[in-house]
Amino acid sequence: MKVFTTFAIALVSLLVVSQSASVPPSVTVQGGKEPPAVIILGVDAKLGQVKFNHLDHITKKRSADGTKQIACVECHHTAQPVAEAVKHPPHKTVWPAERTTTLSLELLATDASAVGAACRDCHARAETKPKLLAEIPQVKFAGSDEPTIMTNQQAFHHTCGECHDAVVKARPDLTPPPPTSKKCVACHKKTAA
Ligand code: HEC
Ligand code: HEC
Ligand code: HEC
Ligand code: HEC
Repeated sequence: MKVFTTFAIALVSLLVVSQSASVPPSVTVQGGKEPPAVIILGVDAKLGQVKFNHLDHITKKRSADGTKQIACVECHHTAQPVAEAVKHPPHKTVWPAERTTTLSLELLATDASAVGAACRDCHARAETKPKLLAEIPQVKFAGSDEPTIMTNQQAFHHTCGECHDAVVKARPDLTPPPPTSKKCVACHKKTAA
């Protein structure tokens, strides 16, 4: 019995430690969940899959100039009220449409569905219909005459690549540099299997 109790205490402290190692200690998960630590993206990309350290991008100071954390909605742009989204053109779509909350670690800790929808639910692969929208969204970027069809490829390359390009511009001495737009295989890796 004593052995069992000791084991149980050890197990509980292990759980507590592993939890505090991932989310900041000020956030207590109650009824919600923690954000994923590492996400494998593009498992079906011909160039290879992309290992994305979600937690490092949330908890470290990863803004272009390295002074701030990245806000959840810089990536999860539909996880905020529409009145907030429209402040950042061309954004106007949020999910669900009537949402009143903005994604944060605190919100996620109490609401497991705080993200609302995954990128690919809307930014589907080329030639496929997205799960949530009638068609893949189109955006007209400054300097181009034609709208861009925001497939998964376009959506991720704009979000991820543009920040990394800005990082290298702002902090040319950062070693190693983050994978910039042109460094395809710094992100896409073929696995042995
Ligand atoms: C910053 C990391 C990064 C860099 C650099 C990058 N990609 Fe990607 N790429 C991604 C991610 C993430 C996805 C989307 C994966 C998903 O849908 O889950 C993607 C998707 C794609 C897709 C679509 C895959 C599919 O069929 O769904 C293609 C094609 C692609 N990338 C080619 C390239 C090429 C070519 C380059 C270099 C010019 C490049 N990528 C540079 C991260 C990157
Ligand atoms: C509920 C659907 C939906 C989800 C989920 C979604 N998007 Fe979008 N996205 C859109 C729509 C629609 C637009 C066009 C502008 C608008 O209507 O807000 C857009 C525009 C964009 C743009 C172009 C505008 C810009 O800021 O440069 C990028 C890049 C983008 N999304 C990336 C992402 C990424 C990365 C994710 C996941 C982290 C994501 N989106 C999740 C629907 C969605
Ligand atoms: C640098 C971009 C980026 C930032 C910043 C970011 N995320 Fe994510 N997150 C992603 C991507 C990409 C996925 C993969 C799923 C997808 O395609 O939407 C994801 C997935 C998730 C998931 C799992 C999907 C789900 O619906 O449960 C959660 C939870 C999540 N993020 C929460 C957060 C929270 C909370 C923050 C802010 C503290 C945050 N994310 C900031 C890019 C980001
Ligand atoms: C707002 C800025 C920003 C966005 C958005 C962003 N990153 Fe990064 N990323 C960084 C910074 C800064 C680093 C380098 C950190 C360092 O080395 O100090 C980095 C590093 C990386 C690395 C190198 C390994 C690591 O994590 O250190 C990979 C791979 C990467 N990012 C993938 C992605 C993918 C995939 C996305 C889109 C889903 C993304 N990033 C979105 C800022 C960003």
